[in-house]
Amino acid sequence: MPEETITLRVDRYRPEQEDEPTAQTYEVPYNEDWVVLDALNHIKDQMDGSLSYRWSCRMGVCGSCGMMINGEAKLTCATFLRDYFPGEITVAPLDNFPVVRDLIIDMDDFMEKLVAVKPWIIRDEEKPIAEGEYLQSPEELADYKQFSQCINCMLCYAACPVYGPETDFIGPAALALAHRYNLDSRDEGNEERKEAVASEAGIWNCTFVGECSEVCPKHVDPAAAIQRTKVATTGDWFKSFLIPGRKK
Ligand code: FES
Repeated sequence: MPEETITLRVDRYRPEQEDEPTAQTYEVPYNEDWVVLDALNHIKDQMDGSLSYRWSCRMGVCGSCGMMINGEAKLTCATFLRDYFPGEITVAPLDNFPVVRDLIIDMDDFMEKLVAVKPWIIRDEEKPIAEGEYLQSPEELADYKQFSQCINCMLCYAACPVYGPETDFIGPAALALAHRYNLDSRDEGNEERKEAVASEAGIWNCTFVGECSEVCPKHVDPAAAIQRTKVATTGDWFKSFLIPGRKK
């Protein structure tokens, strides 16, 4: 049992007993190999079983353990205690989302934004299954691969200075995902996505602060995806005037 401890100041919100979140402090054994999620699991298992939070994979894949750590949006399974020790660590639910309980946020708005950009392969016409799969070269895969690495952790929404005050904003991850499908050589859904993507609530609401890309644990770079979509959309708009009959 390690002798040293580290202080975790954790946001608590139990709607049946309090109107506002409160902070609760826990002294947790300090182990330099532990991540913040290990410390939360220690609290849950050994100290206070009432603490609520989400997690699943503990390996940076499922995207469910995102929280504000000392004010920064991070995956708790990838954030080491040693980076803060001997200082205190504050743990709070992701910014910009309603809190359901303790560290658990309501994801409904994010899920609606994802669906709005139709993040799946859209074809004008599906070929018969008997004709086989839609082949793609390594170069065509490379075009969009970076933007396909999103794990839907919502850190980019918690960090985005636009999404907080303007909840209509479709937001970084969903727009990056739309870009990912628009770049996919098998996809023909660019026009269908435009209504959501090339709108005031879509790319044009982004002020290119770039915080989304800073906090992204998978280096998806949603800010770049949004700026590239702005350029492509503007180009399409000009071409629609130069080439009669071309869709805007
Ligand atoms: Fe799955 Fe952290 S627990 S990403």
